[in-house]
Amino acid sequence: MDERSLAEKWEAQASTWACWTRTPGHDHQFAYNWMAFLDLGCGEGRAGAALKQRGHRVTGVDLSPSLARLAEETGAYHDIVLADAAALPFEDASFDLVLAFMSLQDMDDAAGAVREAARVAGAAAISASVPAHAATSLERICFLP
Ligand SMILES: C[S@@+](CC[C@H](N)C(=O)[O-])C[C@H]1O[C@@H](n2cnc3c(N)ncnc32)[C@H](O)[C@@H]1O
Repeated sequence: MDERSLAEKWEAQASTWACWTRTPGHDHQFAYNWMAFLDLGCGEGRAGAALKQRGHRVTGVDLSPSLARLAEETGAYHDIVLADAAALPFEDASFDLVLAFMSLQDMDDAAGAVREAARVAGAAAISASVPAHAATSLERICFLP
């Protein structure tokens, strides 16, 4: 049994790791030249604005008409849809990435929203971010696939 800590094991692998990560072109996955994002519970649109700056196409969904209107005013979104995250009006696999930034914990049916996010993300991914103090159960929130 290897009794070393994970940090010690990382130290032992430092040069191998650096050789791998520094291989030219290795981090092509970080380029994210263009992705179709769904910003679930987009609020007034701060995530969309940041993503647009990076060249992505972002669709926003929110159930608050006032916040959806503010998001629309940012001009950052390809489209803003007033809808319940647990009943999304999109076809399966419509997006490359579904982002739920600080929003799942504020939804009445978070499990339904995650199910819908998985459906519209298809083979892509869901990224969920929640505050550490969220009162709701975080076990229901998952990263897919
Ligand atoms: C804490 S705010 C986060 C907004 C934005 N993502 C941000 O980080 O600024 C939570 C958002 O979830 C939205 N929301 C709550 N329930 C929702 C639902 N069922 N479907 C869609 N959006 C919902 C709220 O209207 C609100 O804009």
